[in-house]
Amino acid sequence: MTTFCESVLGLRLSDRSVDLVAFMHTPHGSDHHLLAFVKSEGAGLHHTSWDVGSLDDVDRGSEQLRNAGYHDGWGVGRHVLGSNYFYYACDPWGSFAEYSFDIDFVPAQPDWVAGSYAPEDSFYLWGPTVPEWFVINPEPQQIRA
Ligand SMILES: [Fe+2]
Repeated sequence: MTTFCESVLGLRLSDRSVDLVAFMHTPHGSDHHLLAFVKSEGAGLHHTSWDVGSLDDVDRGSEQLRNAGYHDGWGVGRHVLGSNYFYYACDPWGSFAEYSFDIDFVPAQPDWVAGSYAPEDSFYLWGPTVPEWFVINPEPQQIRA
């Protein structure tokens, strides 16, 4: 997928964590990632991300979801790659909607050098322990059934 995004869509690699995750940005300058790909046994949508205006809004969003009965989520925390604050709420499909604030911006520059980071130094700086179900892809069985 990263090769397709680079050669066909013109996106560029922002950073990666070995062969586990790759983040892509646009060459004219964009958020640290518009798309990210995580190693998996099949295709699936893990999450969409919704940019909000403050860390307060991230936490208010998480509270709104819990008040609406959606208690499965992860956060509030802060990512390493992209450095955004986050809260992920599990949606009825088993995917997630992420409230995000203050993601890094990759400027338009031809000499951007993508970093490759160890998994333990790439996921999150602080936040609750990652729930086991957060990294399970529920879709391949449904697609291939
Ligand atoms: Fe995200």
